[in-house]
Amino acid sequence: MSGNVVNDPVVRIFDTTLRDGEQSPGASMNVEEKLLIARQLEKLGVDVIEAGFAASSDGDFESVERVSKEVKRPRVVSLARAQEGDIKRALKAVEHAKHPGIHIFIATSDIHMKHKLRMSRNEVLDAAVWAVSHAKKHIDYIEFSAEDASRSEWDFLVQIFGEVIRAGAKTLNIPDTTGYAIPTEFGSLVRYLVDKTEGSDRVIWSAHCHNDLGLAVANSLAAVANGARQVECTINGIGERAGNTSLEEVVMVIKTRKDLFSVETNVVTEQIYPTSRVLSQITGIAIPINKPIVGDNAFAHETRIHQDGVLKQKLTYEIMTPESIGIPGNRLVMGKHWGRHAFDERLKELGFSLNKVDMNRAFLRFKELADKKKEIFAEEILRLPEQPDRYELLYLNVNSSSSAIPSAPVKMRVDGQERMDHATGDGIVDACYKVIAKITGSRLHLVRYSVKAITGGADAQGEVSCLIEDGGIKVSGQGAHTDIIMASALAYINALNKLEYRKHYRQMVERQGP
Ligand code: KIV
Ligand code: ZN
Repeated sequence: MSGNVVNDPVVRIFDTTLRDGEQSPGASMNVEEKLLIARQLEKLGVDVIEAGFAASSDGDFESVERVSKEVKRPRVVSLARAQEGDIKRALKAVEHAKHPGIHIFIATSDIHMKHKLRMSRNEVLDAAVWAVSHAKKHIDYIEFSAEDASRSEWDFLVQIFGEVIRAGAKTLNIPDTTGYAIPTEFGSLVRYLVDKTEGSDRVIWSAHCHNDLGLAVANSLAAVANGARQVECTINGIGERAGNTSLEEVVMVIKTRKDLFSVETNVVTEQIYPTSRVLSQITGIAIPINKPIVGDNAFAHETRIHQDGVLKQKLTYEIMTPESIGIPGNRLVMGKHWGRHAFDERLKELGFSLNKVDMNRAFLRFKELADKKKEIFAEEILRLPEQPDRYELLYLNVNSSSSAIPSAPVKMRVDGQERMDHATGDGIVDACYKVIAKITGSRLHLVRYSVKAITGGADAQGEVSCLIEDGGIKVSGQGAHTDIIMASALAYINALNKLEYRKHYRQMVERQGP
């Protein structure tokens, strides 16, 4: 690499949806689903795809390997700890990639080194340098991350980064692993490292921020303003805990405020919306309606004053156009006069590539809807290929007292047929979940269950959220009701319906093949 990369006009987009993003609860994807996302990321124009952590499981290894064989333009990397075994697996997984890379990390904060790694600073330094030098014998492109950099001692970072540059690292990543940093502080850290590290002008500086305080995008932008030329992010900002930097937000800030940042990305922004929707369909993780850029309301003007302004001149209330992120004009998609060909094309634009049978089914349902409504919007079309809910709760009666074993008779509709049963359990919720499992014939593992009050007072609404797992697929369900047991049942049934949809979608993807 020649020249000072810090002044490069291009900010590389490193997408970690398939690695860090997949670590968010409920976001696990199978290999076919990951391939579908990887193809979409290539269309989106990301520079690097982190396809997984090859040493973490056979499934991850296979995903990295398949993505490496499939995508051509972006670099494909695997994560690896600074350990021989991890490096070996990562190198093997990316060996067929057109542009292979390996991403080695080790923690550098005192708190991580002391309590997690139980290693001294010198031991961490040696491990990092050894890992990069060892990998360099087999692969040219190495990224090195100092995990928990934002809570690490700055001069230790200068030292370790300087040494790994000498050992051959090409990209140096500064993670705010815990989402603890504040933009001014994070910007200063990046500037300090860029200025003080030996060999700094030969490498790409990168930011990897988590969103625990809602500052991931702001911190990433502060890094760019101070010399970072790579941002690590995920579609819809999914990721561990509160998530990672949201790709669509960071890219659209850079594009919309080019006057301030004077840099650009290679992202084809018109592919943002389809990518966001496909990921949400595959993972079952809904996009909040008010989410910047991709939420349903992001371009919806509700008040009359705003509508009037936008009709007269879009710039009054729109700082970017919906078309620029791939939302078909004004959210209006199509009406009853649309023919089959146009319909197929529009579904493809929205990120769906269905087989013939599913296209036919979706088109029939579209026609049905078009008979009832004059205009049909993007989000309604996106829901078209979905199945209707398979399960519906009709009736729930809970019997519990301090002396009797809790029991719950439940009536449900399953595939249009009414079914009733009852069960006893360790508590009311347990009894209720057992009977729902009995009626639906499900053998699921309940991974997590939580209750929160969403309004105050005696008539408070309770919201229950649960996470279930079946054959490696994790989905979450939500239910809200004044009766917490009812909310629990609704949450469970919501998750079961989502699971059915995920299985159906998976079959569609598998039928289509690679
Ligand atoms: O958040 C983090 O520190 C990471 C590293 C592995 C880069 O994901
Ligand atoms: Zn991370």
